[in-house]
Parts: sequence; C-alpha cells; structure tokens
Amino acid sequence: MKKTVRDVDVDGKKVIVRCDFNVPLDGEGRITDETRIVGALPTIVYLLDHGAAVILLSHLGRPKDGADPKYSLKPVADALAARLGRPVWFRSAPAVIDDAVRAEAASLKSGEAMLLENTRFRKEETANDPVFSKDLASLADLFVNDAFGSAHRAHASTAGIAAYLPAVSGFLIEKEVKFLGETLQNPARPFVAVLGGAKVADKIKVIERLLDKADALLIGGGMAYTFLKARGYEIGATIQDETGIGLAASLMERAKEKGFELLQPIDVKAGRTFDNDTESACYDSDAIPADWMGLDIGPKTAALFAERIRGAATVLWNGPMGVFEMPNFARGTEVVAEAMAETRGVSIVGGGDSASAVEQFGLADRMSHISTGGGASLEFIEGKVLPGIAVLEDREAE
Ligand code: 3PG
Repeated sequence: MKKTVRDVDVDGKKVIVRCDFNVPLDGEGRITDETRIVGALPTIVYLLDHGAAVILLSHLGRPKDGADPKYSLKPVADALAARLGRPVWFRSAPAVIDDAVRAEAASLKSGEAMLLENTRFRKEETANDPVFSKDLASLADLFVNDAFGSAHRAHASTAGIAAYLPAVSGFLIEKEVKFLGETLQNPARPFVAVLGGAKVADKIKVIERLLDKADALLIGGGMAYTFLKARGYEIGATIQDETGIGLAASLMERAKEKGFELLQPIDVKAGRTFDNDTESACYDSDAIPADWMGLDIGPKTAALFAERIRGAATVLWNGPMGVFEMPNFARGTEVVAEAMAETRGVSIVGGGDSASAVEQFGLADRMSHISTGGGASLEFIEGKVLPGIAVLEDREAE
C-alpha cells in the first residue's frame, strides 16, 4: 500500500501535484472531454482545504520540438479555475520553469493554486533528466502523484522528481489501484473480462494475464476476426491482422487446455465498405461473404455477451466491440455497456475508447469505476510495475 495525502501533514506546505491533464482538444483548442480534470479534483480540493499551496504539473499531447502553443495547458488552467471556483495562476512559459514561475511558486499561499506549462515543452521531461526533476522539486516540500494515466511513463515529472522530495499518492491513483488491483488480485466470482481492440499483439499480455485471473473472456472488436480466422473461418474484406493469427491460435489452445471459456462472436454485423451509411447485414461468423467486412458484433453475440456480463460478480471491460464511432455499427458496444450498467456486480471500464463509449451512451455514472488510464490501465492489468507508482512511499504495515 502506498502512502497517500491523508498520511502526511500538508498544512502550510507547498505541494507539487502531477496530474494527467492530457485531455482531448478540438480544432479550436477547446477541451472536448474534461473527465481527467474532474478525476483530479478530489486531491486538489483536499490539499487546498487542508492548508497546502498547490503547484500542478501535467503533459498534454506529444509536442515534437519543444514549446508549441497548440499544446499549451492554458485551456486546462481555465477549466480548472472554473471547476474549483478560484483562480489558478498560469503563465505559458516555454521553459516550464523560469524566474517568474519560481517567484510565483515562492509567494503562493495556503489555499492557492498554480499550473505550470506542459512539461513536455522540455525534452528533459521524457528523458527523465535529473536536473529538470530537481528543478521541479525545488518549488515544493512534497510531491503528490495523481497522474494514473501517465504512471506507466518514467518521466521527470512522473517518476524522477520523487528522488528529491517525499512522495505520496493522490486519491485518483489510490482509487485506480484499488479497483484494478483488487479485481486482479481477489475478484468476486464469476469474473468476466470483455476485450476489444484492433490487434491481438497489442493485448497479448493482457489476454494471458486474464486467462490466469478471470473465469471467462469475451472477445469482440477488430481482434475477434483474427480469432475467427485462426479457427479457419473466412472473414471476407474485414481488415486482416496476419501476424496475430498464430498468437490467437496459441491462446485458443491454452484456453482449451485449461477448460477456460474464451468466447468469440457467433455472428457479426458487416458492411460493404468502411462507412456508416454503407449497406449492412448480419451474418454468422462462419458465413461472412467475401466482399463484406465485419464492423460490429452481431445481435446473437451481443445477447450472449450481455447474458454473461449480467451474471458476473466482477466485469472488466477494455476495447469497443465494433466501430462504435459510426452509429450504425455501435449497437454491439452499446449492448455491452448497457449490460455492464445493469449488472449487480462490480463493473470496471479499463479506460481508452471503452471509457469514451460509456460516456457517449450516457452510462458513465452507472459503472463502479471508469479508469482514466489508457496505456497505463493496460500495463497495470498486464501486471507490470508502473514507474510513477513504484516511486511513491510505502505505508508501514499495519
Ligand atoms: C495517455 O493519454 O494515455 C497518457 O496521458 C499518456 O500519454 P502518452 O501516451 O503520450 O505518454
């Protein structure tokens, strides 16, 4: 168990908090989904209410050549100020830290907040450069990591900084570790996992871990067709993942040896072309015509998956069942989301596209937990040690 902000005295302290404010922006630079900002609020509010002066850090996007106004955190500073109902000092410093930032941090008082510019404006961030880490650390008395979505990155502001300050976890990381960790360690059973996504190779370690931990695994999305192909079915004009076929075959073999239920689509909804308005029809999985492409699970599969999900005591879902961004091929994903909302068990959405899907269907508040991590959740589920969590102090055994 990691120490959290509850385990340390923050009153009168300067606290530097790494958040994951890597939010989606539209063409005009407006934030289109504030989930990650909302997820960080409990820690920020707690610190402000307990007498800390709060210095916030985050990256945004992947700027290639240093400071790029397109990736400025200014919109995040505005959104935070609106949500906190108090000012959030922000200055778009290309160097992230400069004299004005240092001066502001030095004079920041209890209950006040500031946000630094995108840490990736400095190449030292992703290089985990100790000089940059130390410079960031020099602004504060305590480091709090609450950036679960970035915890799989060993960067200066997520991991390196912890070498120079006492380091504890925020409430978001605590919550993510509780839900994802407990599910994998000691799930209420039956534990059903639902996986989608394009390529088997991207999820191979996740699938292997779930074969050990879960009671059943339901496969949808693009990678389901690789499993169908590995069974010897023709998948028509569906996008092929040739390299995944061998992997899918060996996973099916392992599942068979263990008597593990690895369910794949029994029918699909196919289209003539990759287009929402294309002609569409449903086919059994072993009868997809040569010139049609599978774009969603079919209604029989959706019903089968929904029944398994409703009967589960724990459900973990990562990856849409089809091209849910196209309304005509979103139904399979929606049925899975509805079944997750209806189950009396614990329902956990493992971040990324499935989190957006649940949001799109208006079912977010009916899930037990929606992870704010994409890559981080997957690596956590794989069983990897996340560097941004590993650097935090352990709580003494009780
Ligand atoms: C994410 O969106 O998954 C995190 O913010 C990490 O971003 P990155 O993949 O650019 O490191």
